Amino acid sequence: MTRAPASFVWAARALHWLMAILIVSMLFIGVGMVASVSERHAWLIAIHKPLGIAILLLAIVRLIVRLRNPPPPLPDDLPAIQKIAAYASHYLLYALMLVIPLVGWAMLSAGGYPVMLSHSLRLPPIFPVSATAFAILRHTHAWLAMLLFLTFLAHLGAALYHGLIRRDGVLSSMTGFGRKPEGNVAEPPPSLPQE
Ligand code: HEM
Repeated sequence: MTRAPASFVWAARALHWLMAILIVSMLFIGVGMVASVSERHAWLIAIHKPLGIAILLLAIVRLIVRLRNPPPPLPDDLPAIQKIAAYASHYLLYALMLVIPLVGWAMLSAGGYPVMLSHSLRLPPIFPVSATAFAILRHTHAWLAMLLFLTFLAHLGAALYHGLIRRDGVLSSMTGFGRKPEGNVAEPPPSLPQE
């Protein structure tokens, strides 16, 4: 008999926590970057671009890992509305992880700016030069980043609800701590009555 997995595979868990750190850092780097007029602006933008492209590549790897390894099912007793919210937020997170870096890259291409990953490594433009497109993509990038931040907060709230209130194993399926063993485990024999 094949049983559903009790937790995410190690690659999915490693990518989840690595990307969580990178994305939260990116949101703060992005806001700090546009709010700064000091010499730190150039320094932050030089970090923002390669880190954003790294997030794009990791999101593609993560999508492949996710398609090849079905996740553990949500608890049977979870209300349908919460299951729908969970699946919808996961699809949205994947979409934003892929679309935000592409919009950032397209924005710089539309503005005619080179996308440098290092002093010598330059990415090709993915959008024709256009001042109107640059303005639209710049706003789109900022609004999608705001949506990502709000979705991240909802996701964090849901994780804490599962881990601290329901204690239903959903959080531990991603942390790997305190999860139920996989496979068919024999029931322990009932203890003998004491005389
Ligand atoms: C998941 C990946 C990314 C996240 C979460 C992110 C997030 C952000 C945020 C929060 C801002 C500030 C928006 C504002 O308040 O106006 C920003 C600005 C910016 N981002 Fe990204 N970004 C990502 C990827 C990229 C990539 C891949 C590039 C380019 C290759 C890029 C280029 C830029 C630029 C040039 C700005 C400044 C725009 C301006 O001057 O208003 N970003 N980003």
